[in-house]
Amino acid sequence: MKKFPKNFLWGGATAANQCEGAWNVDGKGLSVADCTRYRKNLDIADYKAQHNISSQEILEAMESQDSNKYAKRHGIDFYHRYIEDLDLFQEMGFKTLRVSIQWTRIYPTGLEEQPNESGLIFYENLFKAMNERGIEPLVTLHHYEMPLYLTNHFDGWYQREVIDLFLKFCKTVFERYQGMVKYWLTFNEIDSVFRHPFTTIGLVEDRYPSEKLEEIIYQSVHNQFVASSLATKMLKEYMPTAQMGCMITRTLTYPEDCNPQNILLALNDNRKNYFYSDVQIRGEYPKHIKNEWKRKGIHIDFGDNDEQILKDYPADFVSFSYYMSRVVSVDISNKEQVSGNISSGIKNPYLATSEWDWQIDPTGLTISLIELYDRYEKPLFIVENGLGCRDKFESDGSIQDDYRIDYFRSHIQSIANALEQGVEVMGYTPWGCIDMVSMSTCQMTKRYGFIHVDLDDDGNGSYKRTRKKSFYWYKKVIASNGEDL
Ligand code: BG6
Repeated sequence: MKKFPKNFLWGGATAANQCEGAWNVDGKGLSVADCTRYRKNLDIADYKAQHNISSQEILEAMESQDSNKYAKRHGIDFYHRYIEDLDLFQEMGFKTLRVSIQWTRIYPTGLEEQPNESGLIFYENLFKAMNERGIEPLVTLHHYEMPLYLTNHFDGWYQREVIDLFLKFCKTVFERYQGMVKYWLTFNEIDSVFRHPFTTIGLVEDRYPSEKLEEIIYQSVHNQFVASSLATKMLKEYMPTAQMGCMITRTLTYPEDCNPQNILLALNDNRKNYFYSDVQIRGEYPKHIKNEWKRKGIHIDFGDNDEQILKDYPADFVSFSYYMSRVVSVDISNKEQVSGNISSGIKNPYLATSEWDWQIDPTGLTISLIELYDRYEKPLFIVENGLGCRDKFESDGSIQDDYRIDYFRSHIQSIANALEQGVEVMGYTPWGCIDMVSMSTCQMTKRYGFIHVDLDDDGNGSYKRTRKKSFYWYKKVIASNGEDL
């Protein structure tokens, strides 16, 4: 087996809005994430309803103080317990930890002239504590947590003014955390705008005519592309050696069979997924997207210099989440469907499926790594990967999560297989290295972590942290630099 590079960044990934809690503490403003609620007995296939928040639901959320109903408001209380958690990550040997900075801790509505000092201090202490433990911060600037105020007053990312507000936030954090953070990401899963527009670009769909939605979403993501390039430019001014990554969901799509029509369908699907990294790495829109706009009569406003900005400031590396693959067919009649929150399709008979309908496909990770590297020839970083499942305590108080170990073993083996082919991989940060609130369903029982957190879906529990069997296994993997699987 190919050895992992010496400086390979082993670690884990989190997002502030799913773990910090402390939603109304130390001056923090309300974010879109604080408005998504846990719905009991949510049908897994009905995840879309979870993301399509209506204007009425926004009003209810703004009036509510309930952090059990809006589970991301309590998270796992990382805000107050991060030292204990970092100690556990250090014990596992983490070289890096992916975290995000909540815009609303720094600028509660996005509009303030001056940043909120308490918010800045929190992240400063967090990064210091990480540095002291030899854990390199990998920081996402925008992970599904934009200020709700911007949703209500600027149509989320649809209005161009939001670019400047975001850059004000970037300037503040780049200035403050100079020398503390080397690796940055701009927008988490920037390709997911069509899958869940509220979470990603702060768009409340019922506020716009449905026939205009596609154009509005494309315009919003265009604004994010420009903001991402300008943030990359700015980063280099403050920290010339720091690196900025783009971040996509790799939604690998297979054709059902060798029917050329199915192959074409899968090809177009994959091409749509690559569009987002194409813009951020190649610095220009692929022709097929512009053709699509023409065909559909979609008009996107470009600022005078936008094309040049995209060209001049591409991302330094490509990061991506990888959980599953999907299968498409021109004929889906009478075929079993599976639908995770990331993608849906027909069931792949060769793959096992998780409790939440995600098709487990380690080989797909090797395929994704090879394809991405061939396409861009830039370093790759797997910044999310993992298996959400229910865990149970044994009578001796342990959690024997061998299923999770199997999942990670096969995926790490897949990375090694890609390394063998010359693919450059910077690091691997499994998602939810400590259990936290699910992004899509707001459940706690959909657990990804090496560390269990005592909390149920209704917000009951002591928040106690417990090492699972996978904790000890991952520690061994890191200590052996990926050799002892
Ligand atoms: C990714 C997101 O899409 O998937 C994370 O970036 C999210 O925020 C992860 O938590 C897993 O999804 P879920 O819905 O199971 O939490």
